[in-house]
Amino acid sequence: MTDPYAAGGAIDPATACAEIDLAAFRANVTALAAHVAPTRLMVVVKADGYGHGMLACAREARIAGAHWLGAATPAEALLLRESGDTGPLLTWLYGVGEDLAPLVAAEVDVSVQSLDQLSRVVAAAATTEQRARVHLKVDTGLARNGCPPALWPELCAEAAEAEDTGAVQVVGVWSHLAAADEPGHPATPHQLAAFTAAYAQARVAGLEPSLRHLGNSAGALVLPEAHFDLVRVGIAAYGIDPAPGLAARAGVTLRPAMRLRAELAAVRPLATGAGVSYGWTWTADRDTVVGLVPLGYADGIPRHASNRAEVAVPPRSGSGSPQRVPDRAPVRGRVCMDQFVVDLGPGSRAEPGDEVVLFGAGAEGEPTAEDWAAWCDTIGYEVVTRIGARVPRRYLNASQVR
Ligand SMILES: Cc1ncc(COP(=O)(O)O)c(C=O)c1O
Repeated sequence: MTDPYAAGGAIDPATACAEIDLAAFRANVTALAAHVAPTRLMVVVKADGYGHGMLACAREARIAGAHWLGAATPAEALLLRESGDTGPLLTWLYGVGEDLAPLVAAEVDVSVQSLDQLSRVVAAAATTEQRARVHLKVDTGLARNGCPPALWPELCAEAAEAEDTGAVQVVGVWSHLAAADEPGHPATPHQLAAFTAAYAQARVAGLEPSLRHLGNSAGALVLPEAHFDLVRVGIAAYGIDPAPGLAARAGVTLRPAMRLRAELAAVRPLATGAGVSYGWTWTADRDTVVGLVPLGYADGIPRHASNRAEVAVPPRSGSGSPQRVPDRAPVRGRVCMDQFVVDLGPGSRAEPGDEVVLFGAGAEGEPTAEDWAAWCDTIGYEVVTRIGARVPRRYLNASQVR
């Protein structure tokens, strides 16, 4: 009998899917590892690999030269372990009631930012009779999480005591950058100085962490002074620039790994004056042809894309040549939960079943996730991570290495 509580209802992959080019992903990882060498690279695979599929990306990241993996939540980290991953792995975001023993047992490094968290890791070490590997997190200015500077010396002192008992080993000191994607932002020198001071305080407390890590993708790309021993790279590994121009400035070529495609579910003529979709926020100003794309905001297509974004469609004149650069069809009317309408233009010979590309690498005239981000007043991160569970992922160019 079907499990009534099982998730399900995925879209048929032919109808719509996110293709993930794992060769592009590997190329990005390799390029980033080379760019930061001899600093080591952590690839952040949280949030289902930024929407690309955590397990596939984790495996390919290791193959392509990521020494470390990063997961936000314990559940993500444990899933990686269950999948057979055995390499260095850090997790950093857990709730006040979460049992940390399974992480210690699975040899997952755990971030600690408070005395309470430290005592819970010590308890987990006692439960598992294993020494916990800890990265102490200091807040250097993001004011999101991390130990506030005023409490840092005490946290370091307590951690040193816990080290003496054999319960923990403090292997890292870390923090997170607030504005590395905005070169020249005053937060960055402030954070670099605060981080260096915090590390010195940890040493004064008797700790000898071998890993200092601060940089994200933007830091890895354009801030060599933020590289230290390890950088934690997310978005760039998936081929998306953390901000326009950063990868080029670093001389690193990134290839977007996700291509979101669908087949037109319907094509129909629309007469001048007809309103489209909820609220009639767009009205045809000429006779035209519209197509229905079977993806909506339930699938992560931003409602903000209504009347703003574009998709790539087969050439309008229908010459039949597959070589021709695709046309762009604008999104017309409101994006709905499961579908939206595009204007294929007067005389379009598009047919149901024709492929439309919402975003991809951009090399074949299609929009990119960064284009969608600009249209929707957001960032490429949000565009790819929001692609929903209903959208099947189709993996291309998986590595053959076992
Ligand atoms: C703690 C931490 N480190 C690193 C990253 C990777 O950041 P980015 O995707 O900008 O490289 C993230 C993602 O937000 C993060 O939360």
